[in-house]
Amino acid sequence: MNKTYYITTPIYYPNGEPHLGHAYCTVCTDVLARFHKLCGEDVHFLTGTDEHGIKMVKTAAQLGTEPRALADKNAQVFRELWQEIGICNTDFIRTTEQRHRESVQEIIRRMVARDDIYLGSYEGWYDEGQEEFVTETEAKNNDYRSPISGRPLVRYKENSYFFRLGKYVPQVLKYIEEHPDFVQPESRRNEVISKLRAGVDDLSISRATLKWGIPLPNDPEHVVYVWMDALSNYITALGYGSGDDSLYRKYWPGVHIIGKEILWFHAVYWPAMLMSLGEPLPKQIFAHGWWTSEGKKMSKSMGNFIDMQKLRDVAGTYGQDALRYYMVRAASFGSDLDWTEADFNKSFNELANVLGNCLNRTIKMIGKYREGKVPDSQGALEAIDQALVEKTNKLADEVRKAYLEYDLQAAAMLPIELARQTNGYIDATEPFKLAKDPEKAQRLSTVLNLSAQAIMKALVSLIPVLPSKAVEGLAQLNVSIEGKTFDELMGATLPAGHQLGEGKPLFPKLERK
Ligand code: MSP
Repeated sequence: MNKTYYITTPIYYPNGEPHLGHAYCTVCTDVLARFHKLCGEDVHFLTGTDEHGIKMVKTAAQLGTEPRALADKNAQVFRELWQEIGICNTDFIRTTEQRHRESVQEIIRRMVARDDIYLGSYEGWYDEGQEEFVTETEAKNNDYRSPISGRPLVRYKENSYFFRLGKYVPQVLKYIEEHPDFVQPESRRNEVISKLRAGVDDLSISRATLKWGIPLPNDPEHVVYVWMDALSNYITALGYGSGDDSLYRKYWPGVHIIGKEILWFHAVYWPAMLMSLGEPLPKQIFAHGWWTSEGKKMSKSMGNFIDMQKLRDVAGTYGQDALRYYMVRAASFGSDLDWTEADFNKSFNELANVLGNCLNRTIKMIGKYREGKVPDSQGALEAIDQALVEKTNKLADEVRKAYLEYDLQAAAMLPIELARQTNGYIDATEPFKLAKDPEKAQRLSTVLNLSAQAIMKALVSLIPVLPSKAVEGLAQLNVSIEGKTFDELMGATLPAGHQLGEGKPLFPKLERK
């Protein structure tokens, strides 16, 4: 049986349309999912929408609609956008679905049975944009405004059920300290550790003044706090607590890819909830950075907001894979990122002028000089050949390591660097001159062979980032990836006599739609 791999995105609030931040997280998760799939693993990839909470209620009221109608409309928009940019999720969960609701209620029942939930009263600050309780000190330090949205915090005073978070905090802290890979990147892990050491109160997990949510099984006048509801999705979608939990038993624990502003919920609340349930903790939690635009915070009013329309325009003009490549290469995974037109153009040129050009000239030359059949590498290798062979042979290990260490930027750029070196190799060895001299026929064969092997490996390595273009490029080389793993493809060479297909520019600029 194949090794299983479970990976998730956050579930997004469908109070508006998806934008660059959502697309980025989903694309990075998709790239990881595709890499593991290519390695032959049995991948389960979950995304979805987080549909309860005060934020949905307020946005719906402002728009003169109901939360359910707003969620129905936007959940569909999220689904469609993910299809347009090549996301290969195996499931999409909505927290308003029956399967989720029933399983969340079962989770609460189990926590109640463990005496981890008790009735108390909450008085304090709430950040309605983040759906987050804020301590007096944090509130004061931020001038009683949300550090994320800048909007005023709201004062809550009401009866509420509490989860005994404090009881689990020492265990959570110990776990994070003893498992350095659990929360990544390291700088964020350290932030979590410091905050945990400062001490954490029990968590208010129900709202009696809100009707839009999942009723508590033990007191239906209350609905479940939206974060407890939302975090549960990672296991409710696998059937946890339902009559059929086979997916849960097969795939859990998984890897969570999230944005840095929601790390606390994932690194502290979620493990504590799982400890209460007596279930295994996630394998890893990776928090990525935030996008700005041309050095400024993205906002609708400043007109620099990369919204869904802009994403569609870019994908329509340059292709979905160019958009994916740009996002992944824009900064190291975990750091903040900045969307600039100049950087986008540079990134597109790497695809068109480095990768695409390398493929195209290799196919053209082999077509012209060797009737489209890959010639054998002949004679002793020169230093320049050795250098290219070494780089080609190292690529599989380097790319695998990059993926396993969440260095997505390197995973995307290493193959491009190989293509760049191959272009330099072709420039330096001057096949068009070799072709004129019959005595250089062997040398020409070697140059053509090594160039073809290099571009083939570069394309295979790019399959997770460029799922359609890499496969299209490989088809031009007449290489099928059907049923083959990363290791098999990277370990293979194009045999002498292998007939190439027809070369076509891989990244033509498309007509603006
Ligand atoms: N519903 C919660 C998550 C619950 S998970 C159990 C939520 N939703 S959200 O719609 O606000 O989406 C948050 C995620 O979107 C972030 O974690 C991040 O992945 C992504 N981003 C939103 N804006 C972003 C940027 N400007 N830049 C990068 N990603 C950001 O929080």
